[in-house]
Amino acid sequence: AEPLRIALAGLGTVGVGVIRLIETNRDMIAARAGRPIEIVAVTARERGKDRGVDLSPYAWVDDMQAMATRADVDVVLELVGGSDGPALTLARAALDAGKGFVTANKAMVAHHGLELAELAAMKQAAFAFEAAVAGGIPVVKGLREGTAANALDRIYGILNGTCNYILSEMEQTGADFGEMLASAQEKGYAEADPTFDIEGVDAAHKLAILAAIGFGTRIDFEAVRTEGITQVRAHDIAQADSLGYVIRLVGIATLSGEGEARRLLQRVRPCLVPFRHPLAAVTGPTNAVVAEGDFSGRLLFQGAGAGDKPTASAVVADLIDIARGQAGAPFSVPSTSLVECAPADPGERIGR
Ligand code: NDP
Ligand code: HSE
Repeated sequence: AEPLRIALAGLGTVGVGVIRLIETNRDMIAARAGRPIEIVAVTARERGKDRGVDLSPYAWVDDMQAMATRADVDVVLELVGGSDGPALTLARAALDAGKGFVTANKAMVAHHGLELAELAAMKQAAFAFEAAVAGGIPVVKGLREGTAANALDRIYGILNGTCNYILSEMEQTGADFGEMLASAQEKGYAEADPTFDIEGVDAAHKLAILAAIGFGTRIDFEAVRTEGITQVRAHDIAQADSLGYVIRLVGIATLSGEGEARRLLQRVRPCLVPFRHPLAAVTGPTNAVVAEGDFSGRLLFQGAGAGDKPTASAVVADLIDIARGQAGAPFSVPSTSLVECAPADPGERIGR
């Protein structure tokens, strides 16, 4: 069978994880996808950097944007990051050229996901971003397909691995915030600019994407009321503990009202979570998403939310779907049918 040919932009934590996964499970992936998945071209900022993997089998592309129009490429895989700039230019060019486009870039999807989905639909190209939300947990597919027959009214959970790692390490070992942030960066959990993690912006990106998928509303990242964990101190954690709680950064989206009165509440903030609640047991870089459907009842999706291997797992699952010709529509309804919904809690709008 003809291979699915991939151009890979970005050779950092996730990009290298994808190369390793495709190398390690090559035969199994080919069997499950019905054809081989082959990386043909790669790029990053610095060509000579030692990345711990052999890049010699792949063509090096100096101009990342040239990947979008290469005749020997079926799918462009963007693992660079950034809501705008080169990642967005590449996304638009790849889809415009009718290539499949796969990304782990939640910032870009939160800001431009609808535009890209519409372009993909127009060009009949695949557009997939499972890895953009909650690392290795298949929650995009889980909500889009698994709860398709349900009305959801609430989606909430722990959506940032870096913050959860910092908070749970502080709680369990009394570790220092700054040291744990440095450790999260060293382990590859944090964003290139970690203020996106600790200020709650990364969780807000993910929450806005999940709300759109779960509720069928237009992505409205700017309406997410966001507060990060930078103000949480060791004594807050100790005080919470003495009262029977842990502190977790939780994103909550709820849909209320009908018709014109329909309102979408989206919030990210440190919450007191009682010891007995399932989210209290979520430690380290783990994420957990709870969705409540009218027929499914409460569903809990839990697993590694950050890091090279889990994220690569989600990326390659998208590639396998495309290789099978089974890439679903990116949202639960066509992106042109996603409805506007006024924010339940209008306030200062964020813009990162
Ligand atoms: P890294 O910072 O580790 O890697 C980014 C890569 O992009 C690097 O190889 C870098 O090149 C390259 N790059 C950056 N700017 C340019 C540019 N202008 N032109 C060409 N290449 C460029 O990021 P991650 O791998 O951690 O993250 C990648 C994406 O995946 C981001 O969107 C992130 O939000 C998302 N993500 C990350 C997760 C994680 O756990 N790390 C989990 C889920 C999603 P060079 O190496 O030469 O500097
Ligand atoms: N920086 C992100 C996190 C990566 O810590 O959750 C996964 O999206």
